[in-house]
Amino acid sequence: MKIIKSKSTKINDVNFSTIKFGEIFTDHMFECNYDNDKWEDPVIKPYSSINLDPSTHVFHYGQAIFEGMKGYKDKNEDLWLFRPKDNYERIKKSCERMHIPILPEDYFFQGLNKLISLERDWVSNEPGSSIYIRPFVFSSSEMLAASPSKKYKFLIICSPGAAYYSKPLSVYIEDKFSRAAPGGAGYAKAAGNYGAAFYPTSIAISKGFDQIVWTDSSTHQKIEEVGTMSVVFRINDKLITPLTSDTILDGVTRKSVIQVARDIGIEVEERDITVKELISEFKSGNLKEVFGCGTAAVIAPINSFGYKDEKFQLEELDNDFASKIKTAIINIQQNISDDTHNWRYKITE
Ligand SMILES: Cc1ncc(COP(=O)(O)O)c(C=O)c1O
Repeated sequence: MKIIKSKSTKINDVNFSTIKFGEIFTDHMFECNYDNDKWEDPVIKPYSSINLDPSTHVFHYGQAIFEGMKGYKDKNEDLWLFRPKDNYERIKKSCERMHIPILPEDYFFQGLNKLISLERDWVSNEPGSSIYIRPFVFSSSEMLAASPSKKYKFLIICSPGAAYYSKPLSVYIEDKFSRAAPGGAGYAKAAGNYGAAFYPTSIAISKGFDQIVWTDSSTHQKIEEVGTMSVVFRINDKLITPLTSDTILDGVTRKSVIQVARDIGIEVEERDITVKELISEFKSGNLKEVFGCGTAAVIAPINSFGYKDEKFQLEELDNDFASKIKTAIINIQQNISDDTHNWRYKITE
């Protein structure tokens, strides 16, 4: 793979104690172009803006998908990824749904290895720190015909991240808007899914909430996800999370939470959960915890939820499951604890 190294680094201009998520980017990026029915040789080159013609397909028809993953550094300065094969498998599913040709697996893994090792100084080994990795593909033909693009660009960019501490969230259970519908693209990380979520989310924010709990598009009774995270409920001592489907993203953190919880003896059920059941369990005092889970936050606790005109406030717990599971996952990610499920992937060059 061709590597063009940057002549300078921006790292000394960055104040790592104040960086916000996804606003600072490292010195290099991976780029691979698809043209004439094939992926060309990939290149790693200095991070830079890209010139696109106003007719570029993605601006008009949104054939675009992305991924979100993280890299970690342990106390021996070794670099690790967490379950990257799962991200690659999800890229394949997203590309298929959006009719985008799939980047070969070896390009993806070689690209990640070389890019993350080049950017190793940007990864801190402070507990909870990581580098956020954003692979994405978009349609790049210059054409206005409403048909699939003939050209695509696959890029990987990286953004340094400090430990992510989120205050408990207040969420609104959506009863009008939908994120995804059966037969749609909700299970894919298609860019448009996210663009279409901003308006309903802004309405929830204007009502004083942080995020939306997405419900099924026909009855708005079955709970699906929260914001851009999978959602988990603790009813008494059991965790419940909706089963994945074509309207729910198959979250890597969700899968990890389920496994880690079972490993430490917590019972987990993957099944439908309705708004009615949730409110009834809250009223009986059985709803102990609610949390979102995803790559960015690992686990984001939720301490209140609203539905129509009512608001429900959860009591704070001393011995919550969320913190226990979060610590167990972070310890695996940062090579502090044993990796019994083979989730860590070592960066080797
Ligand atoms: C809609 C949606 N659900 C769930 C998740 C969590 O997925 P993961 O744990 O793979 O980051 C994400 C984030 O990628 C998301 O965008």
